Order: sequence, then structure tokens, then C-alpha cells
Amino acid sequence: MQVAGFLVLVLLWLSMAWGQVLPSRSRSASVEVTFNRQIIRILQQNCQVCHHPGDIGPFSMMSYPEVLPWARKIKTETQVRRMPPWKPVPDYGGFLDERRLTQKQIDLIARWVDAGAPEGDPRDLPVPLEFSDRWTLGEPDLALELDADFTVPAGGSDIYRCFSIPLGLLENRYVTGFEIRPGNRSIVHHAILFEDATGISARLTPSDGKPGYNCFGGPGVPPTGAFGAWAPGVRPQLFPGGVGVLATAGARMVLQIHYHSGVTPQTDRTRVGLFLNRGPIRKEYLYFPLLNTDFVIPPGDPSYTVTASLTVPPLVRAQAISIAPHMHWLGRSIKVDAVYRDGSRRPLIFIDDWDFDWQGFYYFQEPVPLPPFTRLEMTAVYDNSEANPRNPNSPPKAVRWGEQTTDEMCLAIIGFVLE
Ligand code: HEC
Repeated sequence: MQVAGFLVLVLLWLSMAWGQVLPSRSRSASVEVTFNRQIIRILQQNCQVCHHPGDIGPFSMMSYPEVLPWARKIKTETQVRRMPPWKPVPDYGGFLDERRLTQKQIDLIARWVDAGAPEGDPRDLPVPLEFSDRWTLGEPDLALELDADFTVPAGGSDIYRCFSIPLGLLENRYVTGFEIRPGNRSIVHHAILFEDATGISARLTPSDGKPGYNCFGGPGVPPTGAFGAWAPGVRPQLFPGGVGVLATAGARMVLQIHYHSGVTPQTDRTRVGLFLNRGPIRKEYLYFPLLNTDFVIPPGDPSYTVTASLTVPPLVRAQAISIAPHMHWLGRSIKVDAVYRDGSRRPLIFIDDWDFDWQGFYYFQEPVPLPPFTRLEMTAVYDNSEANPRNPNSPPKAVRWGEQTTDEMCLAIIGFVLE
């Protein structure tokens, strides 16, 4: 026994010594970086989900001939961290499925490009990823879709369209997970699933004769809940640990879709799968809005701050599990912290380069405790100057809270459970 233990120790020591000495001398400088060996693996993990045929990325990254013409662009886009798109700044809260390259991966891509972007040995290629139209989590309990295709005309501005779809539930149930499958990934930019327990959304009929109705920034009716959201790269979710969102008997779902327009007219029929609870739910997934609706952003101000705060009431012990910050076109940055009773501060999220086009529902890596008297603090900064190319008002005008493109919001939706 003892001899064997000793041997293991020696072997461990030897392998550690090699591990430390050898790479710094010889390995790092000499190993050739090729597409087939290292680069394709980085692209599979971080890029192909959007950059495959028919998806939102403007070119495919599935094969070497497709990637090669873009090699220089790929080097610069990754160096400035514009790609892959991921808005929260690092080390400010931590999220599941973070889509961020390591510095090592960025350097590897640069080295590969600088060496002339060699293809390498086909035997090094990994198994290719497949992107299919099937439900990835299996058949959902409710498979919902639009009753007709929605057509997006060519070359127009973005469209925010809401579709009211009955859930058909005869009794209250809980949604325990969801999958959103965009019908046409080249135009569907994001989708949000709201609950409308009142059913008012069914009466919103459009004047343009097409399915659904126009809506911007929300479902167009006061939402009673939310089941989930999709943006490119978001994976279908089963909520962790027996958590479920209430779906009321008789409720409708409002599916809000943000469409880009293409160079040719395009049609879409997005599908939504909802998974329902089989047994009792352990915890109800609830949402509360942290918001400030009472502000006026003065015209011309390039950096106007709006704050909001909310204190967890006595006797309530909650845990935050997700966060979705929301502003419109003037938003520049948004930050949310939890401040505990002892004065300590826990960073929840910070987006320092707000982009309306890249919004997300971010799930915390671990639940964030929110004991009684915790204060949630939000600071949002807006650029209402002429110099902001996204300013919808020219010349700039005073902007208040509202649902329209030309209005603003100062909002973070926090998903939580009660302990
Ligand atoms: C979440 C979806 C998504 C992911 C993931 C993604 N991209 Fe993109 N990419 C896009 C979209 C959409 C565009 C075009 C619009 C834009 O630039 O925002 C784009 C554009 C690009 C461009 C062209 C920029 C130009 O100036 O024309 C490059 C290069 C690029 N991506 C590289 C990458 C690389 C490398 C990765 C992975 C490390 C990656 N992308 C991951 C969605 C994505």
C-alpha cells in the first residue's frame, strides 16, 4: 500500500514538473494553430449557434472555405469583443451560459490569422454540430404557433409585433420550461413570452389586416406574467429545481417578436413549446419590476442619470434567479446592485454599452439571497444628445416613460423565488 502510494506521489510530481517546465520552453511557441485543430472548436462553442445557414449571423462559419474570407474580420471583431455578442461586463455578477471568449482564445485566433489562417489536417476535425428544426428538449406539453405566416416586407425598419395565442388551460398549471423556435431565423431578432390572464390581448385587432398587432417594448397590454424569452444563442430552458411560473386557467400568451427586415420579403411562423408541471411545484417563479416611471430626460443632455430602488419588505425572504434590464434607444448604461442591511453591496449586473438590439434574460450562476430589508439599487444613464445616432427624435426632445419607440424606460425585471 505504502509503496504504491509513494509511486503515485512520484508520478504526480513528475507529471507536474513536466507540466511546468516543458510548455514554457517548447510547446507554446511551436505548436501550429490550424483551423481543423483549434479554431473550429472555438467557433463551434461560441459562434456557429448564430453563424450557420439560415440563422441571424451574416455568414456561415460551418466550414473552412466559408470562414477563410472572414478571417481578418474575425480577428478584429473578437479582439474588440464585439463578437460573440455578450453585454454584461465581466466580474459583475455571474451568469449561466456566459458567451465570452477567454483572452487565450482571442490570442489563438489572432495567431492563426497572422500565420496565414492555415487549414491543417482534416483528421483533426471534430464531429460537426447539427442545427435542426426539431424540439431539443423533447415534445412539449403545449405546442403553440401563429395561425398564419407573418410577412415582413423587404428593406423596411424593424417591426415589433405581438401575437395573442390562447393557452387552452382549463385549470391553473405551472410552466416549468420553454423552448422558442423561430420560424425564420434570418429575421427574428428576439421573442418574449408574456402571460395575459385578462385575455384583453385577443381584442387588439390590427388595422393592417395581418396577424397580430404592433407593440414596442412590451406586450401592448398590462402583462400578468412572463414564461420566457429568446434571443439568438439562448438555449431552451427547463427551470432549475422544481420552479414553475403560474399559467392561469383561460389565460392567453402574448408572443412578442422583434423582426429585422431582409433584402427580400420574408415570412415567419414562430413556434413555442411550453412544459407544464406533472406534480406539485416546489417554488413559484415570480417576477417583480425594479423601475422608475417618473423621469424627464432633458433634450441635448449626453449623460442623464435616472435611478430606481426598492427594499425587500420585512418577513419576505427571496432569492433572485434571473434579471432582464430594459431601456430603449437613448440608454447607454445600466447597473443593478443589492445592498444588504450591513451596508455590503453585491453587484448583480452592469451593462456599460447598452444596445437595444442585444437584450437578454440573464440567469444568475447561483441564486442571489434577498433577505428582508435588502435594497435593490439601479442606475441608468441616457444619451439624449443629437450626437447619439440612435436618438429617435431629431432634434432631441424631452423624453419620458412610455411604450413608444420615442419614449424611454428605466426597468429591470427580476425573477425570484420565495425561500
Ligand atoms: C448571438 C448571435 C451571434 C453569435 C454567438 C456570434 N455572432 Fe457574429 N454576428 C452576429 C450578427 C447578428 C452579426 C451581424 C450584425 C452585427 O454585426 O451586429 C454578426 C456579425 C459578425 C461579423 C461581421 C462583422 C462585420 O463587420 O460585417 C463577424 C466577423 C462575426 N460576427 C464573427 C463572430 C465570431 C468570430 C463569433 C464567435 C466567436 C461570433 N461572431 C458569434 C451574431 C452572432
